[in-house]
Amino acid sequence: MTAPAPTREHWGSRFGFILAAAGSAIGLGNIWKFPYITYENGGGSFVLIYLACIALVGFPIMISEIIIGRRSQQSTVSGFLALSKNKWWALVGALGIASGFAILSFYSVVAGWTIYYFGECIGWSFGGFDETDLNAHFGAFVSNGTLQVLFHSIFMGVTIGVVAMGVKGGIERIAKTLMPILMGILVLLCLNSMQTEGFGEAMRFLFTPGEFTKDGALEALGHAFFTLSLGMGAMITYGSYMSKKDPIAGSAVLICILDTLIALMACVIMFSIIFSVEDKGQFTKSAAILFTTLPQLFYDLPFGNILSPIFYALVAMAALTSTISLLEVVTAFFIDQLNWHRVKAAITVGLVIYSIGILCALSNGANATLSSIQPLGDRSTGVFGLLDYLSANWMLPVGGLGIAIFVGWFLPSEASREELATEKGPFRTYGLWQFLVRFVCPAAIAAILVAVVLGRKFN
Ligand code: TRP
Repeated sequence: MTAPAPTREHWGSRFGFILAAAGSAIGLGNIWKFPYITYENGGGSFVLIYLACIALVGFPIMISEIIIGRRSQQSTVSGFLALSKNKWWALVGALGIASGFAILSFYSVVAGWTIYYFGECIGWSFGGFDETDLNAHFGAFVSNGTLQVLFHSIFMGVTIGVVAMGVKGGIERIAKTLMPILMGILVLLCLNSMQTEGFGEAMRFLFTPGEFTKDGALEALGHAFFTLSLGMGAMITYGSYMSKKDPIAGSAVLICILDTLIALMACVIMFSIIFSVEDKGQFTKSAAILFTTLPQLFYDLPFGNILSPIFYALVAMAALTSTISLLEVVTAFFIDQLNWHRVKAAITVGLVIYSIGILCALSNGANATLSSIQPLGDRSTGVFGLLDYLSANWMLPVGGLGIAIFVGWFLPSEASREELATEKGPFRTYGLWQFLVRFVCPAAIAAILVAVVLGRKFN
């Protein structure tokens, strides 16, 4: 058992914690992935199921993660060791550390794309957008090794810098600066969408339930984990910097609401643009829609010149507060478990992840071998695809299952009761939370895992 360091850093305020955690949650998952999977799964019904997954699975697990962190005042591996005599639980934490390496490696590459498109849009805004073939443009960009590594380097560099500056002086400060700007820009873009022709159709698409599919339900559940940064210990680590006085459930509910609101706003913005265009044939149904379709549509709209660079700057900011949290989980492990200095830990870990990320950066066409390897058969292709597949399908669900079982069944009820003692109003219903963590969450996650074993792939 590791004794909590007497000098453990804490968030400056409850508000700082909420913004940092919301910053972790809100990211490419909300703006890049959610609109795309919502479109693919037919809109309204998918959104409804997703909301249920957030409320019934995501929210209780987020509370559980924060309980582990705040109770132990330790990050993910040492947190389990501090709360249980059974050392095997540390494996759940270790899996989270591995997920941190895997996710950040490819996430930083995609995050780099957003900076590049920000630059491209500024160029198009000033120089004119002359019907560039965006598919070809994107293809050429992702297979250009130099550019891929360059933008990945910029993103990892900034991420390492912020994490090295510490919890309050780095992570919290960046979140407090960027999150309000991000929300301001989103509100502006949403107001602007209300003026577009496609707004009505976008709202109908999003909020009228239609067909329901089992695959869609599983995808919604998997995405609920990813978008709330659950299953790898990010909320354990952030929770470990939280003051004992602040309410856990009362804060988690705000984080979940902010994350959901922003995912829905991103849908409204993107679908209003898509549905405003006559020829929807030009909209390619691909995961790369953010880069292959959206710029063109922006330039078909009034004010597109101004809006499009602003939009990509927003996505880059959202991605940055998420990459910070991914690096912080791993950095905090080296600080808590091995007593490393924060700066040394952030730089060392950051450089290792940066190196794995280079393999991902080169695996979208720049290097033939890295782009085509299929160590798991045709479930995933290339290094980027492999890490994405492993983390979304296996590591996060298994980690989430471990966390739910640990807090639901193994952590003494007195401990979780004590952590939740300061809750107010509707969040005082301990029994409901415990029921969700003990039964509903494990059953739901087991369903994802069974689907994955049977060959379903989430990415
Ligand atoms: N939640 C972020 C997003 O939606 C990604 C992310 C950050 C994440 N930290 C995480 C996902 C930890 C899983 C675990 O883009």
